[in-house]
Amino acid sequence: MIVLGIETSCDECAVAILDGDSFVARIVASQVKDHQVYGGVAPEVASRLHIEQISTTVDQAFKQANLLPKDIDLVAYTNRPGLMGSLLVGATFAKNFAWALKKPFVAVNHLLAHILVARYVHKNLQFPFLGIVASGGHTTLMLIRGYKEDDVQILGATMDDAIGECYDKVAKAYGLNYPGGPEVDHLAKQGASKAFNFPQPKLNRRFAGQYDLSYSGLKNAVINQRHQFRREGFDDSLVNIMAGFQYAAIEQLIRTIDRAAHDFKINQVVIGGGVAANSYLRQCMKEKSHLNFFDLPLSLCGDNGEMIAYYGKELYFAQDKQGDSLTVGVMPRV
Ligand code: KG4
Ligand code: ZN
Repeated sequence: MIVLGIETSCDECAVAILDGDSFVARIVASQVKDHQVYGGVAPEVASRLHIEQISTTVDQAFKQANLLPKDIDLVAYTNRPGLMGSLLVGATFAKNFAWALKKPFVAVNHLLAHILVARYVHKNLQFPFLGIVASGGHTTLMLIRGYKEDDVQILGATMDDAIGECYDKVAKAYGLNYPGGPEVDHLAKQGASKAFNFPQPKLNRRFAGQYDLSYSGLKNAVINQRHQFRREGFDDSLVNIMAGFQYAAIEQLIRTIDRAAHDFKINQVVIGGGVAANSYLRQCMKEKSHLNFFDLPLSLCGDNGEMIAYYGKELYFAQDKQGDSLTVGVMPRV
């Protein structure tokens, strides 16, 4: 079976082709440079760029795979959640492509694709397991019992900023480039995490769920530290601030994962999304002997077409080969 996967939910126009169990094409047309001047993703710009990129990116994928469109058996694409304009471009392209070729198509939940692609990488990963999406738009903990949405229970999520958004905003305040995550990660490695003690949120669990998180307080504390430096002059503490920030950000995530793993008696954990590439997070997770951490290769952490192709195929079979109908829409939120 040959599956075309299309991902356009944010600022990456990503396409992959899965042939049997092998990926024969993988293209990511990144818009990062176009958004750098805004210090973050500009939604209107993202959707316009997707319109320019989508046909050529799909073309390139077919060339890379040495295949023709008629060879495809299924089209999978992201229809939720994400930026409305960006989602619409991918969805419209994918549905038209499949319809013209008289092939079935499936609309895919981006968050689940980030996590379930781990079953492609790790054949020994069994249901149920904990899945955490840590990205620029989401910080969500899920209990994954199967491929279908009904098999997934959302345990908790951020109540304000996403963890990646927090990295990006801190980086912007300190004059670092977008996306901030890799820059902060790099600087933090050179600093001492205990030199600056940033706060952990104290969520009132009568209002917040047991596994909810919060990142806006930490973001403000680290940004306020920058204002103090602006007044008093900046010294060489940047690496220590970044190390202190990274420690606080990752510690909160890991504590929440630990708590959920303990309460649900599940030790298998998958983390997906751009922040899953973070070196400190990966190191901490690997050191936890009571957890079985199924790590993703860096190429599958950020947005990519492979996760859509793989998850779309599994979903298609889980839904008894019922493809979606042309009336299925896009959803910015899930
Ligand atoms: O999953 P993704 O590519 O796009 C979204 O769906 O948001 O995630 C992008 C996010 C950005 O916020 C970026 O700063 C963050 O992932 N990121 C990282 C690292 N690499 C990317 N955050 C922390 N450490 C990293 N090494
Ligand atoms: Zn993503």
